[in-house]
Amino acid sequence: MNARPTRILGIDTSCDDTGVGVAELTPDGRVRVLANRVWSQTVHARYGGVLPELASREHVERIDAVTGDALAEAGLTGAEVDVVAATSGPGLVGALLVGLMYGKGLAQALGVPFYAAHHLEGHIFAAASEAELAPPYLALVVSGGHTHLFDVPREGEYVLVGATRDDAAGEAFDKIARLAGLGYPGGPAISEAARRGDPEAVPFKEPLAGQKGFDFSFSGLKTAALLAHRAGAKPEDLAAGFERAAVNFLLKTTLRAAQAYGRDTVVVSGGVAANRALREAFAASPVRAVFPGQGLNTDNGAMIALAGAAALRAGRPPSPLSEGAVAYAPLAGA
Ligand code: KG4
Ligand code: ZN
Repeated sequence: MNARPTRILGIDTSCDDTGVGVAELTPDGRVRVLANRVWSQTVHARYGGVLPELASREHVERIDAVTGDALAEAGLTGAEVDVVAATSGPGLVGALLVGLMYGKGLAQALGVPFYAAHHLEGHIFAAASEAELAPPYLALVVSGGHTHLFDVPREGEYVLVGATRDDAAGEAFDKIARLAGLGYPGGPAISEAARRGDPEAVPFKEPLAGQKGFDFSFSGLKTAALLAHRAGAKPEDLAAGFERAAVNFLLKTTLRAAQAYGRDTVVVSGGVAANRALREAFAASPVRAVFPGQGLNTDNGAMIALAGAAALRAGRPPSPLSEGAVAYAPLAGA
């Protein structure tokens, strides 16, 4: 490795955010985020969900400018980039293809190695911005599309410990926010409204109470919210009750898994990891909880640069340029 840090440019266009970030890996193996720029698409709001075709077109229109902004923020020219990484899956194939092709083209033009990155590995490595991630640890990925709990016994090895049986955690925040008329995206809206509400006003039962495994489920909380809403519950009370139930459920299940697997460190990442109540609950728990830094919870390119840095550090070979985009790409065979 060279004496100066290796600069990795990371790209994520897996859904409706055009994310480009830059990280550096020092010769002694430490990582640092130099830039993180995200263009969040707003065109989908009027349709109430992400339209794949529109997402791809917006990525095409924005990617060059977002890349330029990220390089400027890092204080680098394109020629100073040593490695390019881009998400190849899972995600919307048309959207993924934009960042993947752009990344491959950039790597070719600069004559540098290219790494295809897994979106969930990106979410996990986002926490490397805050602390050295040394296995073994547990990783809870809670986003709009995923609620997965992994055991990471060794670098690059993932064992699926539990997953949601229905909605993802973020999806439940979004749906309940919409139901209660609190707006989009639902996570921050619920969090804000919850501060004004009474968490005792609407009863929410613990999901999957008594299970031996480590799965998640949010459909029961969603139904409880719907019934309470129809019965005239206040939006802020719904928000407070749901947030508390969801946080307690995520925490309790993860702590049981940490004990079962003998892990004392838990990485909590993905969009829902931005939630303040969740952060406070984990911080007060017996495990060492590591969260991504600001701006690195929801989808972004810096986390992909950090995943690229981890691949480099682990000595993984670069990806072939034939690597394609994949909608469904399990990280641990499930
Ligand atoms: O990681 P992300 O950007 O996208 C996926 O890969 O799915 O996560 C987006 C999700 C949304 O469902 C959003 O409501 C949720 O993360 N979210 C939050 C908060 N901020 C974002 N959920 C709870 N509390 C928050 N503060
Ligand atoms: Zn994500």
